[in-house]
Amino acid sequence: MLILAVESSCDETAAAVSRGREILSDVVFSQADMHAIYGGVVPEIASRRHIEKVSLVAEQALAQAGVSLRELDAVAATCAPGLIGALLVGANFAKGCAMALGVPFVPVHHIRGHIAAAYAAYPALEPPFTALVASGGHTTIIDVEDYTRMRTVGRTRDDAAGEAFDKIARVLGLPYPGGAALDRLAQQTEAQPYRLPRSHVADGEYDMSFSGLKTAAVNIIHNAEQKGERMDLPGMARSVAEAVADITVPRLISAALACGRDTVVAAGGVAANSVLRARLEDECCRRGLRLFLPPLRLCGDNGSMIAVQAYYELAAGNTGTLAQNCFATLAPDEQVSRA
Ligand code: KG4
Ligand code: ZN
Repeated sequence: MLILAVESSCDETAAAVSRGREILSDVVFSQADMHAIYGGVVPEIASRRHIEKVSLVAEQALAQAGVSLRELDAVAATCAPGLIGALLVGANFAKGCAMALGVPFVPVHHIRGHIAAAYAAYPALEPPFTALVASGGHTTIIDVEDYTRMRTVGRTRDDAAGEAFDKIARVLGLPYPGGAALDRLAQQTEAQPYRLPRSHVADGEYDMSFSGLKTAAVNIIHNAEQKGERMDLPGMARSVAEAVADITVPRLISAALACGRDTVVAAGGVAANSVLRARLEDECCRRGLRLFLPPLRLCGDNGSMIAVQAYYELAAGNTGTLAQNCFATLAPDEQVSRA
């Protein structure tokens, strides 16, 4: 089963070719440097860049896989959630290919895709398990009952973890997207000189909140600036990363145990964070849980994760018609092809 998949939900134009859950090629064109000038993603610019690059990344993915268009069994694209104009570019491209080739079009949920990055990395991994998906737009704890059946058990009530990392990095003067740069700073120290809040959501055991953490860090940075004091940059980076791990890891582990799972997955751009990964390894080992972390290159947005999830959606009969729409928001519990 050969699948070409396109991902264009945010600022990466990506394509991959898979055979089953095996990745044959993976091409990512990052627009990050274009958005860095503005300190964040500008949706209109993202859409325009996607339309310029989408056919190129798809051609490269096919060439690197040594697969011709005519050999494809299906063409897939991320259809939700994400920037709507950006999603429409990838979805329309994939629909056009599917129509021309006379093969199914498979709409894929982006968060399901992030989880599927773990299938691409670990051939033996199978549901059920409980997953944390943490990225620039989402922070969600999901019980994955089966490849295409899942239930959200916890989510952020305000900002995503990646948003907090990016905003704090920006106020510290680091280039966008700042999560990875903050991580490199955090690796220079184990000290946590800044006290940052770990908010609890009173009526949601597994729900999370990051806006208090973000605001507290930004206030500390602004106060230091006003007083002319030098910030301890690695100390701030470490304090933030430890706070994010304190908020996410215990909730993920409690949710997994409550769901009766012995396996845990963490995925999404923020799952590349070294402090979070180390904490997950320690805690899962202590609790006797099996942990699957995708390698760093599969944590951020990519086409492989969409191709692998598309394989399972196709197997479950979840294909889209050529009238399939895209959605800026949609829970991973929902079926994109039926939304
Ligand atoms: O999954 P992703 O590439 O795109 C979305 O779906 O949003 O995630 C991007 C997010 C950004 O907020 C970025 O700063 C963050 O992931 N990120 C990190 C690290 N690498 C990327 N955050 C913390 N530590 C990292 N090493
Ligand atoms: Zn993502």
